[in-house]
Amino acid sequence: MESKLKDILNRALSELKQVENMQELNEFKVKYLGKQGELTGILRGMREVPAEDRPKIGALVNEVREKLEAAFSEREQAFNKAELEKELQRSAIDITEPGKGHEKGALHPTTRMFNKLIDICVAMGFEVVEGPEIETDYYNFEGLNIPKNHPSRDMQDTFFITENILLRSQTSSVQVRSMEKLSPPIKIISPGRVYRNDSDGTHSPVFHQLEGLVIDENVSMADLKAMLTSMMKKVFGQSTKIRFRPSFFPFTEPSVEVDVSCPTCHGKGCKVCKGTGFLELLGAGVVNPKVLEMSGIDSKKYRGFAFGFGVDRFAMVYDGITDLRNMFKNDIRFLKQMK
Ligand code: PHE
Repeated sequence: MESKLKDILNRALSELKQVENMQELNEFKVKYLGKQGELTGILRGMREVPAEDRPKIGALVNEVREKLEAAFSEREQAFNKAELEKELQRSAIDITEPGKGHEKGALHPTTRMFNKLIDICVAMGFEVVEGPEIETDYYNFEGLNIPKNHPSRDMQDTFFITENILLRSQTSSVQVRSMEKLSPPIKIISPGRVYRNDSDGTHSPVFHQLEGLVIDENVSMADLKAMLTSMMKKVFGQSTKIRFRPSFFPFTEPSVEVDVSCPTCHGKGCKVCKGTGFLELLGAGVVNPKVLEMSGIDSKKYRGFAFGFGVDRFAMVYDGITDLRNMFKNDIRFLKQMK
């Protein structure tokens, strides 16, 4: 029995040396250490061993088992380590490989102009107010002294949703909402998207406006002129010249259209300003007393002035962009030039 055990031990150890992978290792375990394995077989045969020899043989079996188990787990650990190393090598980071880099984005010219204008206005004490893009006829037209069927509605080709609901054609709608809600003195700007049924090289069905409204005692056309001159110089540079021309808007009286000297040629005349040296950039005027009254503001006590900027047009002039449609195409080649 003793020699049989020695034989098993030697055979097992030499077989273990030949084992090449995890699967063979497991087969080895079953063969020698498993329930049906050779060592268990010996224990089962103990009955035939004389009683006085049993402790000795039993101890020997345990010794052999311990040796085999130790040898087995040593091999097992070696396999595991090799496996881990293979895995680490496979997933290793090649620190010599050149980086991929990230492309930097940029703000859209209209967004940049919005930020610039809002910053300038806020520094002058204006509060920013926003309103809905889907508007009622009242806030977009009637409350601004543009009754139904009035010919001045033709100035703005409007997208109607129903007879009384429309896509706002001007952010002036926010003026009416603010005059109803706030009490004077009022000093607000309303930036936002507006819609008109128009589409060519100089008109887009969606574009952006920033409208300003000041209501207080003793404000006048002179204040409006001073404020707009100062704003335009801040946007386009101190040497900018401003020109006021009489115009008409139903909600302001008197009304003006304001020209700014061309930032590209500084008033000399070029392609951008079509040789005139000036660009027509905004509308403004003294708020019509009727508009104040409709929103419940005492027009004997208070007066106001308002102005409206076409923000996309400002951005185009500022960045030297010639076709308005580029502003809304989201063409990455165009936007990349704008960084
Ligand atoms: N809302 C006018 C437009 O869109 C612009 C404007 C605003 C004119 C405020 C005067 C005063 O054409």
